[in-house]
Amino acid sequence: MTPAKYALITGASRGIGRAIALKLAQEGLRVIINYASNREAAQQTLDEITSQGGEAELLPFDVTDATAVQNALADWHTKHPGEHISIVVNNAGIRHDNLLLWMPEADWHSVLRTSLDGFFHVTQALLKEMLVAKWGRVVNIVSLSGIKGTPGQTNYSAAKGGVIAATKALAQEVAKKRVTVNAVAPGFIRTDMTSDLDEAELKKLIPAGRFGEAEEVADLVAFLVSDKAAYITGEVISINGGIYC
Ligand code: NAI
Repeated sequence: MTPAKYALITGASRGIGRAIALKLAQEGLRVIINYASNREAAQQTLDEITSQGGEAELLPFDVTDATAVQNALADWHTKHPGEHISIVVNNAGIRHDNLLLWMPEADWHSVLRTSLDGFFHVTQALLKEMLVAKWGRVVNIVSLSGIKGTPGQTNYSAAKGGVIAATKALAQEVAKKRVTVNAVAPGFIRTDMTSDLDEAELKKLIPAGRFGEAEEVADLVAFLVSDKAAYITGEVISINGGIYC
């Protein structure tokens, strides 16, 4: 039997990231739960994985801080000699919605820093070991907003759209080394991020007639990181109940 692979999921203390961590652990992967500040929630994710017989550990860092990312990953490698991380799910993301006319500059930058710079910091830090191992998976959690653009979310749409373009570019750089790079674009998924939205009103716009569940996104990610998805790369896969433009 080949040894279990390590999978790092950013922002995995709650919501979609948490569901992905649980699912990948159920698939037999060793899960590394990244979180920025909510240790208690991250610990709950870890406890749930271990109670199901899975393997997981915590690795706190802020994806916007390049030095913090590098230091945390260097520490991880020191503690795991001879091991490498072969799967990364760039899930950390934030929203600060406003019309562009009224958007504070800080809200523009923080949203781009989290999704777009976060993708760069974490993926670049792990890419070399995937290329050396000649196997790797990068999955970027983007959004319907990054495909169609959502009014009131120019910052978020730009951040996710940027990650989509980076996904396509990087996929072509690394395909020969059996590293795939894909994006998953959810529509409305029921998490803390969407808890302020009027679900009853918005679901009228969704052909499936409901918000999605984090576990449904996790199932798709689990397929993309599996060996079965080896020939899928540079793709943006929507999971949105049929809602497009
Ligand atoms: P959430 O707000 O429940 O979770 C986001 C996670 O990212 C949290 O654990 C948070 O602590 C973490 N995070 C934020 N900034 C971070 C940083 N600087 N460093 C490390 N971690 C950080 O939101 P949800 O819904 O689970 O979102 C997960 C991803 O899915 C995000 O990228 C979001 O943009 C995306 N998404 C969510 C949709 C939804 O309807 N819930 C729709 C489309 C995309």
